[in-house]
Amino acid sequence: MSNPKVFVTRIIPEKGLRMVSEQCQVDLWTEELPPPKAALIEHTRGVDGLLCLLTDPVDGELMDAAGHSLKVISNHAVGYDNIDVGAASARGIPVGNTPGILTETTADFAFALLMAAARRVVEGQRAVVEGKWKTWGPQWLLGADVHGATLGIVGFGRIGQAVARRAAGFGMRILFYDPSPPAGWQACDVQAEPVTLERLLSEADFVTIHTPLSGETQGLFDDRAFNLMKPEAILINTARGPVVDQQALYRALKSGRIAGAAIDVTVPEPLPPDSPLLELENLIVTPHIASASRATREKMATMAAENLLAGVRGEKLPYCVNPEVYNR
Ligand code: DGY
Repeated sequence: MSNPKVFVTRIIPEKGLRMVSEQCQVDLWTEELPPPKAALIEHTRGVDGLLCLLTDPVDGELMDAAGHSLKVISNHAVGYDNIDVGAASARGIPVGNTPGILTETTADFAFALLMAAARRVVEGQRAVVEGKWKTWGPQWLLGADVHGATLGIVGFGRIGQAVARRAAGFGMRILFYDPSPPAGWQACDVQAEPVTLERLLSEADFVTIHTPLSGETQGLFDDRAFNLMKPEAILINTARGPVVDQQALYRALKSGRIAGAAIDVTVPEPLPPDSPLLELENLIVTPHIASASRATREKMATMAAENLLAGVRGEKLPYCVNPEVYNR
């Protein structure tokens, strides 16, 4: 029997790619940019498995174009809002993701953004490069203390809790909002108080977002949310861009309604260099790199490969987001 055919939509870290190449006939998209929709459809036609990235929209049309041979969609990410999971379930196709492995790496980065925004690290670097460092100034580039401040965590899943552990080390008071916190959150090793979103927004000095993107969370941070925040508050977003209404964020930062923000995710991605957001001194933007450590990206690739290989063999995916397909 010939090896299963798979389409891999980008060059993923070597170890994962090797696992797939050893057992499958691989059609590999080698360009830096994602395949455009027509190419995605064309290359997915007739394959047994698709290994895709969060930049690849995977909808029912693509699944139908792939045809009955398609046995698995493996996303090289923990988030899977790029995939129409309902459409996959309706067609009996399991969808895989890479949960857990990027938790600590993403939490590290969220904390790095929090610290950088609090202490104006990027503005300081810019000032040095632009020759604006004239002397030690007693009132120059003053920021906010992180130690002892109140942190509001929106979404208290794995990553939210990992951020809480870091915050505890800085002596922060921790509030969280999560309408359906994961079972066992009380057992997490830090003291964190569940509160309403309104209370969190009005008391937190730092607000960090760790919710998945869904109908409920899209646009959660709108004018109303920013109006509830303290003027000295700083927003961190390493989750998904659409959770924040970017125009509302612009207004809040420009008017000084909040003190600052640091975001790793935007709408669209990439954020165009002429975006008005980039004119703001009190905003740090990074290019969706919260999970980008060498070790984590390699492990994400091997998990995505494990899912793909299990799927093409007709076995249960080790990390499956729609296990209901197995009860059909
Ligand atoms: C994910 O895996 O969902 C992350 O956003 C990638 O960094």
